[in-house]
Amino acid sequence: MKIFENINEWKKFRKEHPSSMGFVPTMGALHDGHLSLIKHARRENEKVIVSIFVNPTQFNDPCDLDNYPVDLDRDIASLKELEVDYLFLPTKKSIYPEDYNCKVIENNLGRILCGKTRTGHFDGVLTVVMKLFNIVGPSRAYFGEKDYQQLSLIKKMAANFFMDVEVIGCPIIREADGLAMSSRNVLLDKKHRCLAPWFYKILKNTESIDLKKRKLEEIGFKVDYLEKHDSRLYGAVFLNEVRLIDNVKL
Ligand code: PAJ
Repeated sequence: MKIFENINEWKKFRKEHPSSMGFVPTMGALHDGHLSLIKHARRENEKVIVSIFVNPTQFNDPCDLDNYPVDLDRDIASLKELEVDYLFLPTKKSIYPEDYNCKVIENNLGRILCGKTRTGHFDGVLTVVMKLFNIVGPSRAYFGEKDYQQLSLIKKMAANFFMDVEVIGCPIIREADGLAMSSRNVLLDKKHRCLAPWFYKILKNTESIDLKKRKLEEIGFKVDYLEKHDSRLYGAVFLNEVRLIDNVKL
């Protein structure tokens, strides 16, 4: 696996290698959810590139950014095992050379659900994904349905800006007990990790939203939101300060 840290070096390399390129953008601390996107990309493209960049502009809470798990050595070993061709590891300075003055903003879907409770979150996501697409030059890019709102917004951005990339959604990968895999799950202590699967169990049952909220709160979750949108039920909860999100098709 070839590792690129320099944007211009990658861009030059990409020009000389016009193969079909599957791209999986990540913030690292890789788990089987990320790896499923990579496997998907592997099947549909000649080459696969993964990026690891903990994007500061999408964190509305500085503590959340400070606590975000990082394990680069383990990530590199997992990527090599999956025979990923290229890893892109840019620095913050290279992605935001003039700070964060130029932004991509979506004022509709980007302002509800996670966009409402995490102010500016999707501006940061869309901005970094636009930058990464422009640098990487992917044929196809893969995103998980775990972050369904993010996936919808990125599809929308690619269409609205006539971007030459196919955005592909991949199913949610769950632990055996139903908890959606997430880099943040490692932040849960033993007690809260045992409680966490109730989030999905309650989300997917047929009770009313009010009853679901009450049950979650009785168990110890702090509900950020639980809302229907476009025949999908979206939820975000805190469990001992760790934020978990999930969604189910209705
Ligand atoms: P990150 O949370 O690292 O996730 C990277 C990709 O993995 C996203 O497309 C996400 O939806 C997907 N993913 C995470 N958990 C998953 C699961 N359990 N099943 C399936 N897919 C899963 O999402 C981001 O990073 C960032 O916002 C990013 C797009 C990289 C921009 O900074």
